[in-house]
Amino acid sequence: MKHLLSTKDLSRDDAITLLDIAEDMADVSTREVRKLPTLRGKTVVNLFFEDSTRTRISFEAAAKRLSADVINFSAKGSSVSKGESLKDTAQTLAAIGADGVVIRHPASGAPQVLATSGWIDAGIINAGDGTHEHPTQALLDAFTIRRRLHKAASRGKGLDGVTVTIVGDVLHSRVARSNLWLLTTLGAEVTMVAPPTLFPMDMTGWPAAVSFDLDDAIDAGPDVIMMLRIQQERMNAAFFPNSREYSRRWGLDDERFARLAPTSIVMHPGPMNRGLEISSAAADSAASTVLEQVANGVSIRMAALYLLMSGDREES
Ligand code: NCD
Repeated sequence: MKHLLSTKDLSRDDAITLLDIAEDMADVSTREVRKLPTLRGKTVVNLFFEDSTRTRISFEAAAKRLSADVINFSAKGSSVSKGESLKDTAQTLAAIGADGVVIRHPASGAPQVLATSGWIDAGIINAGDGTHEHPTQALLDAFTIRRRLHKAASRGKGLDGVTVTIVGDVLHSRVARSNLWLLTTLGAEVTMVAPPTLFPMDMTGWPAAVSFDLDDAIDAGPDVIMMLRIQQERMNAAFFPNSREYSRRWGLDDERFARLAPTSIVMHPGPMNRGLEISSAAADSAASTVLEQVANGVSIRMAALYLLMSGDREES
């Protein structure tokens, strides 16, 4: 694997390999010395053109646990036009010898541009591009589901027959898109629930059932319910009347949470709008995997960096 740009083009075998390597990385994280020498002498640049807390520190922790040198480049606020600034930045990173670049960018497709432009010869990992994809988030979500379902015996397995309901701001969510492709590749059945205004106009080719009614979706008894953040920063118009109305119809409130099967798990990629898309009781419950998702994110990112950067890049 040379780059990790999306989950849409990830094969089932590659996805399972990534999840299995992440299991090994998770084992490393339980040791007294939580460090491997694998990427000693290599440089990873975290190139973030958009705000981020958990994804950036997660990649930083992952790279450091593999003994890579890490440079954090926060490019937010640059006034140079996007295309030019990306090219200049990429050439700068090439000049300092970056072996891997983790990029988050508000423009969908920016990581793809970096990977194919020839400006830099480094492994590129998409850490979220506009509303397009966020592959490591989907991988850590799949990893979290697989671990909860299969406990210790999860290696080698997919998510065949698992039912996952994704709820909320699908329109603006790269997390929803990456999860849709990855989860269905792994054999899960995905239902998406949102107000009509928060679905994309064209969902042709999306392998998901669509519903506008969260109560119906909850009564169907999904194995997993994944709440999405309302992405106010990407909204330039009113997509729902007000927060109270949103939360009343599409929020995982205490009453809906109580109706979930005792074995269902509740997921959220963070950052959460408590009281809007998810209640505090649901977010902090034993069913919630929110913090597990963060911890698993480090293992997944270690696996991705390892696959892309260890060994001789010329071979791939
Ligand atoms: C997500 C993102 O940035 O796409 N967050 C994350 O990576 N943990 C989801 C979100 O911001 O809602």
